[in-house]
Amino acid sequence: RILILDFGSQVTQLIARRVRESGVYCEIWPFTVSSDKIRDFNPRGIILSGSPASVHDEKAPKVPEDIFTMGRPILGICYGQQVMCHNLGGRVETHDHREFGRATIDVAEECSLFHGVWAQGTQEQVWMSHGDRVAAIPEGFKAVAYSEGAPFAIIADEKRKFYGVQFHPEVVHTPHGAALIRNFTHDVAGCSGTWTMAGFRDLEIERIRRQVGDGKVICGLSGGVDSSVAAKLIHDAIGDQLTCIFVDPGILRAGEADEVVKTFRDRFNIKLVHRDASDLFLGELEGVTDPEVKRKTIGRLFIEVFEQEAAKLGGAQFLAQGTLYPDVIESVSFNGGPSVTIKSHHNVGGLPERMNMELVEPLRELFKDEVRALGREIGVPEAIVSRHPFPGPGLAIRIPGALTREKLDLLRKVDSVYLEEIRKAGLYDEIWQAFAVLLPVRTVGVMGDGRTYDQACALRAVTSTDGMTAEVYPFSFDFLSRVSGRIVNEIRGINRVTYDITSKPPGTIEWE
Ligand code: XMP
Repeated sequence: RILILDFGSQVTQLIARRVRESGVYCEIWPFTVSSDKIRDFNPRGIILSGSPASVHDEKAPKVPEDIFTMGRPILGICYGQQVMCHNLGGRVETHDHREFGRATIDVAEECSLFHGVWAQGTQEQVWMSHGDRVAAIPEGFKAVAYSEGAPFAIIADEKRKFYGVQFHPEVVHTPHGAALIRNFTHDVAGCSGTWTMAGFRDLEIERIRRQVGDGKVICGLSGGVDSSVAAKLIHDAIGDQLTCIFVDPGILRAGEADEVVKTFRDRFNIKLVHRDASDLFLGELEGVTDPEVKRKTIGRLFIEVFEQEAAKLGGAQFLAQGTLYPDVIESVSFNGGPSVTIKSHHNVGGLPERMNMELVEPLRELFKDEVRALGREIGVPEAIVSRHPFPGPGLAIRIPGALTREKLDLLRKVDSVYLEEIRKAGLYDEIWQAFAVLLPVRTVGVMGDGRTYDQACALRAVTSTDGMTAEVYPFSFDFLSRVSGRIVNEIRGINRVTYDITSKPPGTIEWE
């Protein structure tokens, strides 16, 4: 396995993605970790990430003591290269010639980091993003590639197996970056590349059995990817010792509640409590217009209802959660200070502390796309595995203003037509998230010879990699006209369709 030390780069997680794609297990730890802990982890190689900091900053992040004398291969990326040079007797300077974006490097010598990928004497494209740069390299190193802005674009000390790159091999804009990282994990560090989802499944099933023994586990099921994969995996491990609780808050999409019950109870034979709590949720939400109050109310009710159902079952010692690796990684931040709350997101996150149960978290080492791969491996239906994200507060935050059952029904119809057309056009998997919003305005229209005075709706579709930023999906005009035509013709009560073309930022993905 490989250890990635995080110095606060925006793209550290991408390094981990590339390492795992090379079939090698890795973990991301903050740079503040002790050398003893690193020795216990016993990595075959260490990667030092980039950072927004400069080694000359007073508070510059430092490497763990004696990391360079542990005898492990090291790859330093950007700041990682600089901090390596700074520590080993080289020099780092702040230079006028900053490089951001695509750059060309000249490959001057052979090096095991790019052996079989790049040849000596060629020019290669890479992605740079740096202000500081290495100006003198430590003893034992040689420069093997250079660019206009970085005389030491790649440096290597083949004897100690230390490598430094000024560019970012982990981003897709460096075309052969993944191959370089693979060379490091396989050829340099000697990892075998056997970390696969099938292997992970077997290990994890063993781990769950060992943790749980003959105890009982309960798992909150939402129908989303994470809880579905977690539930199926735990069931594969311990069968009927698992009971799932599915709280239907009455704010799901059309047909979703039925699908959850059919898949998990009927098809997988998993013990499933299905609590239809729509009266309770819609009753408490009546007249609520403030988005934050909506969100908080829904979060509170989820926990209350879940607790009631868990108490009825009685006797479970374990609570299963679909926590993913990005939630586990301790983040390194240099901006300081708490960030403002844009929206109070809710998952059933507050539950573990309240319920005083031991957690079973079989996905806590995985990234989202790995969870999808695992889901496919263990037979979770494709419709669930590749499903777009759906927020905990559901359709409630897609109906600005107060909720009613009628509005929910209307929105479900619009949403169904929209998604049906997206699927028919083969666009579903290209889009991160697509959904309809019911607008709290009525507008005048004309149908046949008559006047209509009905509601307007908005359609939204975005691409994104993590939901933090998003771009509007560029549907063709034909597609939008077709969807608009169907909605207005088929759904009574809607006479106007708009397409939301706001990116995030400055918009958010959901409307509330
Ligand atoms: P925003 O609207 O903040 O959404 O741009 C970013 C992503 O998060 C989802 N989302 C939520 N997910 N509980 C969740 O589990 C929530 O309360 C919640 N609110 C928003 C949203 O659908 C998008 O994918």
